[in-house]
Amino acid sequence: MNKSTYLIVLFAWIFASCGEKEHDQPFAGPQLPSNFPPPVYDLSLNPVTEAGFALGKKLFYEKALSRDSTIACADCHISFSAFSHPEHPTSHGIDNLFGRRNAIAAQNLIWAKEFFWDGGVPNLDLVPLNAIQSPVEMDANPAVVLERLRQNAQYKAMFKAAFGTEEITTAHFLQSLSQFMAMLVSANSRYDKYVRGESGGDLSSDELAGLAVFKAKCASCHDTDLFTDNSFRNNGILNDFSFDRGRNEVSQLPEDVGKFRVPSLRNVTVTDPYMHNGKFKTLAMVLDHYASGVQDSPTLDPLLRQPDGTLGIPLNAQEKTELIAFLKTLDDETFLRDVRFAQ
Ligand code: HEC
Ligand code: HEC
Repeated sequence: MNKSTYLIVLFAWIFASCGEKEHDQPFAGPQLPSNFPPPVYDLSLNPVTEAGFALGKKLFYEKALSRDSTIACADCHISFSAFSHPEHPTSHGIDNLFGRRNAIAAQNLIWAKEFFWDGGVPNLDLVPLNAIQSPVEMDANPAVVLERLRQNAQYKAMFKAAFGTEEITTAHFLQSLSQFMAMLVSANSRYDKYVRGESGGDLSSDELAGLAVFKAKCASCHDTDLFTDNSFRNNGILNDFSFDRGRNEVSQLPEDVGKFRVPSLRNVTVTDPYMHNGKFKTLAMVLDHYASGVQDSPTLDPLLRQPDGTLGIPLNAQEKTELIAFLKTLDDETFLRDVRFAQ
């Protein structure tokens, strides 16, 4: 080996080992925006690493997580629609079966206290088990899924890189999916830049007027910069909840019939159709609902009963236009086009 070849080999070795080292180190984990409350998910119990994130991403796009290997998480949670399912009022899963509910945008998950429309899943780490076992989503036995992964050399190597062992355990499987999902932070919309006083955060007079209407009429439920107070409420889209009782299916309390988790409104222009049952196609329809379509039932939220006995939230045509202008400022192109999250 002459001297220059020796040096090239030496450098190649140094770079290769640096590359490996970076793999074990925590890389820049999820963004924790200054205008958000502290996260609920304890990242210290499952620190996000580059290798863990890469594995979680591969699993999120992996069809072998379903019984007949036809459907991946990402088939119902699509990156460019904030990980919701465009054009699908309710979810469309294995064997062409339809579920009862609209796929929730998977974003800012480390700030959620409970998951699903009824809050039936208390921890992000448990969400995938629910999807995998759901007879209308992936209908698979998690033990069979893990066995499939164990037969795959690439997965063995990726689990080793992420967790230091080739052994593919349920805990590591779930932790890596959580690491991917923890990274799905949307906090760089024009509205965020406005709130944080950053450049690119200019709002027009219509948008500012819409923000004022929003604060007065919507923010009591769509609260904080997450645009949800994480509570369960009945916003009057139905008056018969026998098909889906919402929060009551978890709590069994009669006062919870028809209550659903207040959804975030981030990236709301791309998460249509709206509501737990995908009832409304457009934001204009949503606003018409609040202004004049609210249906009465015993658990209807008191905020939707006006002192004069009318139901809903009074909104005139101008306020509706302003509200829609404001809601559009919640679109976060950086998040929707982030190549780290797309397949
Ligand atoms: C067939 C479509 C479908 C597939 C496949 C699917 N999901 Fe979902 N996902 C949904 C629906 C529908 C909901 C809402 C469920 C509910 O409220 O009962 C949901 C809810 C969620 C949520 C909750 C978001 C929140 O804020 O509450 C997360 C996170 C999530 N899914 C992740 C996953 C992961 C991870 C996988 C793969 C292991 C997956 N999903 C597979 C349709 C799907
Ligand atoms: C009383 C609490 C409350 C108030 C006030 C309220 N909302 Fe909602 N909002 C909800 C709940 C609960 C849902 C989900 C209901 C369901 O799916 O059954 C929802 C859903 C939505 C959705 C659908 C989001 C999606 O991804 O499906 C939009 C958009 C929305 N609200 C906008 C607004 C606007 C704009 C206002 C003010 C005019 C407003 N809301 C006022 C509780 C409220």
